[in-house]
Parts: sequence; structure tokens; C-alpha cells
Amino acid sequence: MTRIDPHSWADSDQPRTRSLDLALEVDFDRRRIAGEATLELRGPSDGALDLDTRALRVHEATTEGGASVPFQVGDEDAVLGQRLRLELPGGTRRLRIRYETPPEAVGLQWLEPNQTEGKRHPFLFTQFQPIHARSVIPLQDTPRFRVTYRAAITLPEGLAAVMSAGPAGERPGPRPGARTFLFEMPQPIPPYLLALAVGALASRDLSPRSRVWAEPATVEAAAWEFAGVEQMIATAEGLFGPYDWDRYDMLVLPPSFPYGGMENPRMTFLTPTLLAGDRSLVDVVAHELAHSWTGNLVTNATMDHFWLNEGATVWAERRILEALHGPEAAALSWAIGEQALEIELLRFGADSPWTRLRTDLQGTHPDDVYSSIPYEKGSRFLALAERTLGREGFDRFVREYIARFRFTSITTEEFLAFLEERLPGLARQVGADAWLYEPGMPANAPVFRSPALEALTALAEAFPAGARPTPEQVERWSPSETLVYLQHLPRHLDEAACRWLDLSLKLTARGNYEILVEWLTIAAGSDYAPVFPRLREVLLRVGRMKYLRPLYGALGRHPRTRALAREVYAAAAPGYHALSRRTAESVMAEYAE
Ligand code: BES
Ligand code: ZN
Repeated sequence: MTRIDPHSWADSDQPRTRSLDLALEVDFDRRRIAGEATLELRGPSDGALDLDTRALRVHEATTEGGASVPFQVGDEDAVLGQRLRLELPGGTRRLRIRYETPPEAVGLQWLEPNQTEGKRHPFLFTQFQPIHARSVIPLQDTPRFRVTYRAAITLPEGLAAVMSAGPAGERPGPRPGARTFLFEMPQPIPPYLLALAVGALASRDLSPRSRVWAEPATVEAAAWEFAGVEQMIATAEGLFGPYDWDRYDMLVLPPSFPYGGMENPRMTFLTPTLLAGDRSLVDVVAHELAHSWTGNLVTNATMDHFWLNEGATVWAERRILEALHGPEAAALSWAIGEQALEIELLRFGADSPWTRLRTDLQGTHPDDVYSSIPYEKGSRFLALAERTLGREGFDRFVREYIARFRFTSITTEEFLAFLEERLPGLARQVGADAWLYEPGMPANAPVFRSPALEALTALAEAFPAGARPTPEQVERWSPSETLVYLQHLPRHLDEAACRWLDLSLKLTARGNYEILVEWLTIAAGSDYAPVFPRLREVLLRVGRMKYLRPLYGALGRHPRTRALAREVYAAAAPGYHALSRRTAESVMAEYAE
């Protein structure tokens, strides 16, 4: 027995899945997906095959010829879920499993019509990264094993499906009104990139290879916000090589979506909080698009190497940003990330093992230690290598790295070996071992400076001493500059200071959620009551975990805001994704009394 991923029952001595064929029906009334998953193996196989599942109801397993395949569902492991062991008869190439999901499958969120913009149709979406695919499909749920897939998804009348795949037509379903949507993903992907969303959806073309999907009520706003996507794709291609995934489409989800974005191939999923109305939050699109190279082409072998995925993508995202908007804009983006990094180092403690880039997650659920560390420390490590070697040489290395490992999944050690092969001595020169294997931030971390950045931080730091920006200054600030200013203000302000800020920067009414949430975090931590109605509105509407953590955290400081948090949470929880509930509850568990 050779386990190859601390988060999977998959065994490298056993047969491997080459492709999946899904025939599933979505039942909103019962909140279940039911049907068949057929696993095509790499060759004729026999003997034990261990799959990952979590709370799935497995009804039957058969071979292609119809022979019954004995199976056994193991005990629940809190991190891994349940092992599904099948005993394959000799010569098995295709294995068919008939099953259904329970209503609380963690990889799914079922939304009532009132949780959508249109309020008339229900909505369903998946979120499989890091290890939730197994709660919807029985499979070898490790990024070490890439698969292609086909799917036939049957839906009730009036709804449409999108997937992380190419559309392959649709046909009438098995009962009146029902329709079956067909998909095909010919490129091998890690299981965490399988994705499905179902709802009343509309789309707008943005370029010959890109369109945006959303509910009809939001699709125009989405098309306007993301109109620049083709320019972004072209810029990324100039930096990292050809876009390899055919189309780049995006889906704007309802506001309970727990992340900012998810890089599902050919169909990035996005939070509607990006629709600021001024295109100021499209860096999230640059990030998800960048994953098309760093992540979806070259994946982390397991979650212990997650930094390879996210660190490289943040680095790539900021290179796209710099190419499009210049070095000042990139410096601001690095500064905004620096602040997130410092908060996380404080949260875990700078000597915590969760501040290492290469982690050891055996026995730990990756969702429990998700943080900005792999993003911000990882990207800084690569930026240091880039600075040390020079941009031209490093860019050549990055393109070679992508070409060498495309459509594979690699470890930190494989990355290091390739770095040493192509750029001998660079790893030692930048102190790679300390970056990768030691906690905290190494002393040689790159510093990102710009005149605008320095002026903003100095002004914010002088706030307690009475320094204030002039109305003309505030007027000229870009959204990123406003955000950097707010990030550098003290977390507790008196009532007069809060009132001054809100009036002068018109913060409570902002549509840019990064700015709004930064402000509400300060205001909540300052027990500033005039923002409470807006806070309540945000917490009731939005499930993005990046926002719930600081907001519920800041509300924990004062007895009155703690009571507010508990009251709002009780009302909001039924609309939150299971992951968002977990985050909010873990933050509130830290409250005094
Ligand atoms: N792949 C991540 C989201 C993710 C990571 C989901 C791990 C589940 C487990 C995605 O690319 C991401 O990083 N999103 C960020 C956006 C950002 C850094 C610009 C987010 O959601 O905030
Ligand atoms: Zn990412």
C-alpha cells in the first residue's frame, strides 16, 4: 500500500482513473444529485481500488459488462471522509457507480430563489478545492491524478448548467420539461477543478474566446465590469506563453459564494462583490486567469505544496497588473498583500508551522489552515528570485517551467530540482531552504516601494497625531490608494475620528467591497454605531470568507458589538455556505464570554 497524498485514500499501487463519465440529475426539491459516475481506468485492472467519498450514498457498482462489483464503505475519517473500497473482477476497464449525494454535501451549496438576484429560480454551485469533490463524486480525489471528463447533467425546466468544460450540446431530459446539458473536458485536470453551477443564467460575449455568465439581473453589469478580459488574456499570453484551454469564460455567482474567485478551467467562478461599478476589483480576474498557467497547467501534487499553486499565481497576477497598469499599481498591490501577510503572521504566530511554504498537513484539513501565507510569502519568494537573477532570465525560466511541467502535478522538491537544473546556485543565493522549510518571513524578503505608497502610509500613520488628507487629495486617490490608506490606520478610533473618515471619504456608501469591508472592520472594532445597519446588510448578503473573518473578528471587541455579531449570525447562517459558517463560528469561538 502506498498512499501518495495526506488527503486521499488513493493508492499508487492500485489502478488509476483516466477519465470520468458523469450522468447526473439535479433535484432541487430533495437537494440531491443522483445518478452514475463511470470511471475509466488506464488499463484492464483487477483487485482492490480505493476511492474517496464523503457521506455519499452508494447504491451499486458494476463493470461495463454488468457484473456486480463488491464494495465496502469505510468508517468516517474527519479529514479524509470515507474510503470506498471496490474489488474489481479481472479485466475491468470501466467501473460504474450508482449513487446519490446527501442534502448537506459539503461541496455543494443549494440556494433558495430568495438568495438569488432574480428571486424566482433556485441556484446550485460546487466548490471542490481543496478536497470536496469526494462529497459529490466517488473518485481518486488527489491532484496527483489528473482526469478528463464528460458529463450529462439533467435539470428541471427553466434552468441552465455550466461546467469547467466545453459545452457539448443539450437534449430533452427523461421527463417532461427536463433538459440534459452535455459537457466535455478533453484536457486532464485535477479533481478539485471539476465544477458545476445551475441556475437561471444568461451570458454576454466579451471577445471571440470569452463570455461572462450571470443571472439575467446582473449580466449587463458583469459584462461592463469585465470588458477588459481579452486584453488581460493577451497580456498573460505575452508573459507566460499561449493560453491552452480554448475558451476563458466566467460565471458570476450569487453573493454567498465563499471565495473571491475560483479558477475552474474554462469557467472561472467569481463573487458578485467584484461588481464595484468602476472595474477596480478586476485583479481577482487577473489572478484566476493566471491560474490557467500556474495551477491548472502546473498543479501542486498535494496540498502540502499549495504555495506552488497560489504563490506563483499571485506573482503572475501582479506581473499582469504591472504590464497593464504600470509599476505603481503593482507596488500598491504588493503593499495590500503585505498587510494581509502581517495579519496572518500574527494570527498563527510567526513560528507556527502553518507559516512554512512547504507544509506537513497529515491529519489536518487544509480548510482549517487556509490563509494568505502561501499566497503572499510564496509570491515574495519568487519575486526575490526574479530580482536576484534579473527579470529577463527569470521570465525565461518561468516559461520553461510551465512548458516542462504542463498538465502535471509537482512537489516543492521537484520545483527546486528544476530550479537548480536551469539556474544553478540561485536557490542557495536566495536562501530557498529558509523560505520553503522554515516558519516566518526571512530577513531577505523583497521590499516594494513607491512614492505614492510611502506618502499614503506616512499620512495614515500620522492620523492619531492629527494629520488628515485634504479633500483634493482624497478626491484624487484611486480605490487601491484609498485601501492602502485605510489599511494603515489604527484599528480603534474614537467617534469623532470615525465620523470624520466616513464623511470625508464617503466610506459607508462604497460599492467597492475591499474598501467597504476595511472601513467596516475599523468601525466595528471602534464600536461606531452609525455603520451597524450597513454592517448587518453586508453580513446578511455576502458569504465571502475573506470578509467574514475580519468583520466578525472586529465585532468581538466590545460587548455591544459581540451581541450584534451573534444576532446577525443567527439570521445570516442559514444563507451561508457550510465553509463560511465554519469560518464565522471559529472566529466567534474566540470571543470573550
Ligand atoms: N484557488 C483559490 C481559491 C481556493 C483556494 C479555494 C484553496 C479553496 C481552497 C483562488 O484562486 C483564490 O486564491 N481566490 C482568492 C482571490 C485572490 C487571491 C485574488 C480569493 O478568493 O480571495
Ligand atoms: Zn488562487
